Amino acid sequence: MKIIMLGAPGAGKGTQAKLIADQYQIPHISTGDIFRANIKNGTELGKKAKSYMDQGLLVPDELVVDLVVDRVAQDDCVNGYVLDGFPRTIPQATALDEALIKKGTGIDYALNVDVPDENIIRRMSGRRACVNCGATYHIVHIPTKVEGICDRCGSELILRDDDKPETVQKRLNVYHEQTQPLIDYYSKAGILVSVDGTKDMMEVFADIEKILGE
Ligand code: AP5
Repeated sequence: MKIIMLGAPGAGKGTQAKLIADQYQIPHISTGDIFRANIKNGTELGKKAKSYMDQGLLVPDELVVDLVVDRVAQDDCVNGYVLDGFPRTIPQATALDEALIKKGTGIDYALNVDVPDENIIRRMSGRRACVNCGATYHIVHIPTKVEGICDRCGSELILRDDDKPETVQKRLNVYHEQTQPLIDYYSKAGILVSVDGTKDMMEVFADIEKILGE
C-alpha cells in the first residue's frame, strides 16, 4: 500500500503516518525527519536545508525529489510506504508520478488530514519532539509520562526551531500557496481521501483504518 500524507503543517500527518506504518508494517518516510537528521549530523544537505527550514520556506525541489525517488526504490518499500511531507509542490508530485509510472506502479491513497488554520498555531506551540528518535508529543493533547522526556527512548524533548508562532504563520502561508493545490491534483487523479484531523488522535486513526481496511 503506497500512501501520501497531505495536510497543513501541524495537521497531524507525522502522528498518523507513524500509526499507519506500525499497523500496516510499511516504512514511514518523512522528508522533514530526513532533513532534521542531516542537520543534526552536519551534512552538506543539512546545511542547505536548514537555511530554508528556519525561515519557514520549502527546501528547493531539486534537493528533495531525487532523495525520495531513490528512497522509495529501496527493498523495504516493495510492499508500500507512507510518505509524510512529500510531495509538497506540483513539480514534486509530477516527478514522483513519472518515477513510479516507469516502474509500472503508482500511489494508492493521498490521505488529507484536514485541520483549520486556527487550530494549527495552538497545536504547534505545544508540540515537543525527541532530539534522538523524532517521536512527537503535545504538552496538552499527547503528554509524555515524565515531562520533557521521550516515552520511547528516554531522550530530551525540544520545541522545534520552526515551531515558533511567527514561523508557523509563514509555513501556513507557504502551505496554502504551494502545497494545497495538491489536493485538487490528487482529487483529479481519483485517489484523494480526507479525514477530519480535529478529532482525537486515535479517532482520526480509526477513520483512516476504515479507509485503508484492516
Ligand atoms: P515537516 O517536518 O514535514 O513539517 P510539516 O509538514 O510542516 O509538518 P509537521 O511535522 O510540522 O506537522 P505534522 O502534520 O506532521 O503534525 P504532527 O503529527 O507533528 O517539514 C519541515 C520543513 O522541512 C518544511 O517546512 C520544509 O522547509 C522542509 N521540507 C520537508 N519536506 C519538504 C519537501 N517535500 N519539499 C520542500 N521542503 C520540505 O502534529 C503536530 C502536533 O499536534 C504534535 O504536537 C502532535 O502531538 C499534535 N497532534 C497530532 N494529532 C493531534 C490530534 N488529533 N489532536 C491533538 N493534537 C494532535
